[in-house]
Amino acid sequence: MMVHQLLYQALIIQTGLSLFAVNATYVDYVTSGTWNGVGFNIAVKREKIQEKLDAYHSSISDGCGDGPKLVLPEKQVFPELETREHHFVHVDFGYLTSRDFDDFLEDNPHPCVSVSGLEVAVIIPLLAANASGPPIYALALAKLYEKSRGDIPKSNFLYPYIPVDEIQFSDSEGVVKKGSDELRVSIIKHNDPCEPPRSIAEEFDEFFVAEFHFGLPKPDFSFCDRHSFQSDFCTNAKRVQCAVHRHAPNLCQKYNISNPRPCEALVEILNVTSGFRDLILLGNDPVNILSSESYSGDTVVGLKYPCQE
Ligand SMILES: *[C@@H]1O[C@H](CO)[C@@H](O)[C@H](O)[C@H]1NC(C)=O
Ligand SMILES: *[C@@H]1O[C@H](CO)[C@@H](O)[C@H](O)[C@H]1NC(C)=O
Ligand SMILES: *[C@@H]1O[C@H](CO)[C@@H](O)[C@H](O)[C@H]1NC(C)=O
Ligand SMILES: *[C@@H]1O[C@H](CO)[C@@H](O)[C@H](O)[C@H]1NC(C)=O
Repeated sequence: MMVHQLLYQALIIQTGLSLFAVNATYVDYVTSGTWNGVGFNIAVKREKIQEKLDAYHSSISDGCGDGPKLVLPEKQVFPELETREHHFVHVDFGYLTSRDFDDFLEDNPHPCVSVSGLEVAVIIPLLAANASGPPIYALALAKLYEKSRGDIPKSNFLYPYIPVDEIQFSDSEGVVKKGSDELRVSIIKHNDPCEPPRSIAEEFDEFFVAEFHFGLPKPDFSFCDRHSFQSDFCTNAKRVQCAVHRHAPNLCQKYNISNPRPCEALVEILNVTSGFRDLILLGNDPVNILSSESYSGDTVVGLKYPCQE
């Protein structure tokens, strides 16, 4: 249920972007990215989520004061999974192949950046604009990438990107290391045959279609300023960045996925040290993974502004 919806969402946030069409209130991006990964949802105390939302609101409140609001929904979306004291944080590991840069790669036999690679994303899903509103929003907390990849294109404009020392991902394990911190999970995939988790489809349709992600108060277009090569990604980023900055922070991403392939998977945390506990808002609380899934697919990403009207 939520499981499914979240994992799809996790899948789509991993993609690169390129502009498709522009009109007065909405910008559509089309990606040719492919994602192959595993995600899980971990129970986090509502008060810790609330603290993060408060920090986000205060980080965007120095403008005109009418930035987007993100609140925990009054009504539980998935009462079978949630307890009254908890909400979710979603974490996913996976390999992103971005084909938006084909032109660049063809013209540059020795590219100085790696446009494909392992990434880990962290989000707070299922947030609403007010306590009784539909939980169609998410807050993007972080995207982790290996610093050895160099100056990677920040194709998810709304994510805070954080370099880490190492990311490993295989059919049986995911590992992230940053300084003395480690997040290590075991994975058991059931891809062959792929059995999607049951009783998810309805919620997926309901929320996926309308899912929006907020994140950075100011989207980061600086990669394209630092590199002079031609790419659809940068051409499109230049074209929209003034309009996007005008609407910031009230802008968000919306996602479509063309051929999703969700399969059952079991994820368990083997080790999580304090730095990653803080990142996923867990603090010293016990680890409780509520759901997990593996997935792959191609995605389309739209950048919407204003997001909350
Ligand atoms: C802008 O484009 C979006 C998505 O393609 C569409 O839903 C919306 O109706 C369009 N708005 C206008 C004013 O054309
Ligand atoms: C809550 O949000 C929904 C949609 O986002 C809106 O229709 C409704 O009027 C809002 N309610 C209040 C009390 O602001
Ligand atoms: C967890 O990771 C830290 C940092 O790498 C390490 O010092 C510690 O021994 C690990 N703990 C377990 C139980 O693997
Ligand atoms: C995204 O999905 C919506 C609804 O399914 C569809 O109408 C729209 O054409 C899709 N956009 C793109 C760019 O594929």
